[in-house]
Amino acid sequence: CGIVGYVGGQNALDVVIAGLKRLEYRGYDSAGVAVLADGGLAAAKKAGKLANLEKELADRPLPSGTAGIGHTRWATHGAPNDTNAHPHLDNAGRVAIVHNGIIENFAQLRSELTDRGHELLSETDTEVVSHLLAEAYSSTGDLAEAMRQVCRRLDGAFTLVAVDADAPDVVVGARRNSPLVVGVGDGENFLASDVAAFIAHTRDAIELGQDQVVELRREGVTVTDFDGEPGDVREYHVDWDASAAEKGGYDYFMLKEIAEQPKAVADTLLGRIDVNGRLVLDEVRIPAHVLREIDKIVIVACGTAFHAGMIAKYAIEHWTRIPCEIELASEFRYRDPILDPRTLVIAISQSGETMDTLMALRHAREQGSRVLAICNTNGSTIPRESDAVLYTHAGPEVAVASTKAFLTQLVACYLVALYLGQVRGTKWGDEIHSLVRELSDIAKEVEEVLETMEPVRELARSLKDKNTVLFLGRHVGYPVALEGALKLKELAYMHAEGFAAGELKHGPIALIENDLPVVVVVPSPRGRSVLHDKIVSNIQEIRARGARTIVIAEEGDEAVVPYADHLIRIPATPTLLQPLVATVPLQVFACELATARGNEVDQPRNLAKSVTVE
Ligand code: G6P
Repeated sequence: CGIVGYVGGQNALDVVIAGLKRLEYRGYDSAGVAVLADGGLAAAKKAGKLANLEKELADRPLPSGTAGIGHTRWATHGAPNDTNAHPHLDNAGRVAIVHNGIIENFAQLRSELTDRGHELLSETDTEVVSHLLAEAYSSTGDLAEAMRQVCRRLDGAFTLVAVDADAPDVVVGARRNSPLVVGVGDGENFLASDVAAFIAHTRDAIELGQDQVVELRREGVTVTDFDGEPGDVREYHVDWDASAAEKGGYDYFMLKEIAEQPKAVADTLLGRIDVNGRLVLDEVRIPAHVLREIDKIVIVACGTAFHAGMIAKYAIEHWTRIPCEIELASEFRYRDPILDPRTLVIAISQSGETMDTLMALRHAREQGSRVLAICNTNGSTIPRESDAVLYTHAGPEVAVASTKAFLTQLVACYLVALYLGQVRGTKWGDEIHSLVRELSDIAKEVEEVLETMEPVRELARSLKDKNTVLFLGRHVGYPVALEGALKLKELAYMHAEGFAAGELKHGPIALIENDLPVVVVVPSPRGRSVLHDKIVSNIQEIRARGARTIVIAEEGDEAVVPYADHLIRIPATPTLLQPLVATVPLQVFACELATARGNEVDQPRNLAKSVTVE
């Protein structure tokens, strides 16, 4: 969910709505606002996208005030209807609260409140907090203190922002687990889940820590812990401006973000390889002697980041000979994995907020393992709680389906793998030297791919009425196939599955029928050519059974030509780096199919970009 709070001289409603627009990627099941005006509190909320709320506000305007809060929701408790939308008010309509997360003991709190005569209207866990806060405020007369008292009673993960009509110049926030950032202005202050919400007003930010309460007034900001002791915070300056989070002439953020990939890749490499081809990763603040003693690596991640991790496993094991596992973060800690101080856990996350990944890394640290985060969001929770972080420099990614962040995650994984090899004194063979050189050139190759995408778009449009598309790959092409399938599910809502091409004969081949589109990611015929030959056989096997083959193969690979109904060419790259170029056509393919099917590319149904619940 996305949260915004504002206090200052501008019309609070305008600031809050503009902020919510920038946070809509975090959830778009419903939206709502509350403003303090004329000694009272006025609120509006609406199921569906923010546009529905804006329409409601146009029909029934709220009075203008100088403090307000807003919310855009990704539903957990309760269906995404008007009633369950945030903000939630107390019975007197004096307190309004918005919430991100899950309050685990809400059933117990709810029955206590009902026993005391409160009437709860929604099915949400949030509503109990507005009632508790109203009670606490009436006994303390201090909204921040009331919030602290309430927070001490809540279990679970929550970020809360509230206003009270009796405290007209105050907005309070509380943070546990899900993010909350303060924007520091001149005579005005902001609160939001992400700096994007206030970047148009200020680039000075304060990141709240775990279990902190913030009181926001026009003239200043006070941060304490849940017990009222002064809180430690981190102030920082946001190094990108509002235009980075605009569509910049593209119809969708996703198109812009696909096009930005060469730059994102180049920026992530920048300054990290020196002229002698050595890795310079000073920011990885895990001492070399610790890295030398690592005897196992475990990568944890979700969604697209998980696919980056799968590819990283191939690179890490091949280049460093350290055993490496990759696991879905949501599965990881619940099976009691074997971890110790010699295990390096790598947590990959674009947002740095994904709760499953955060919980996995906390578990790893509790077992004494070191955690290295690969993350795109400066100062977010996952890097804060890790021993070290390697930032990807993709810039803000707004479209829900990840594209440029994925490519930069791959780059970061390659850098980590090569760096581990360097620190551990792996003998640098010619292969590694040429790989480092190739990696430095890779942005140009991504650019080349982007220049030749028109036939891919045309093909995508021609498949718009298909129900199923399958994806096959071998070696690192297998995670690429999974990523291609995930993109298609997310965006085109089509049945799409990725398989290891070798597994085909063990079951999935039964799915092949006449004219079924099957995308095959073909490894380079150079180097590990045995892989190439095997996949050429796989293409023949499916084609013999009627599949329509869509083959992604490197330039000059003539062996695939006779079996490709559609051929998508990518530049020749070493096998391990091929995912950086092979994924791009699959992103374009999914995006175009989604458009052809009339789907919302940037905000696919049921999804949210940052999932801050487990
Ligand atoms: C959500 C998004 C996915 C993303 C995943 C992990 O499910 O819809 O696109 O890959 O979260 O996100 P992260 O921010 O941890 O990389």
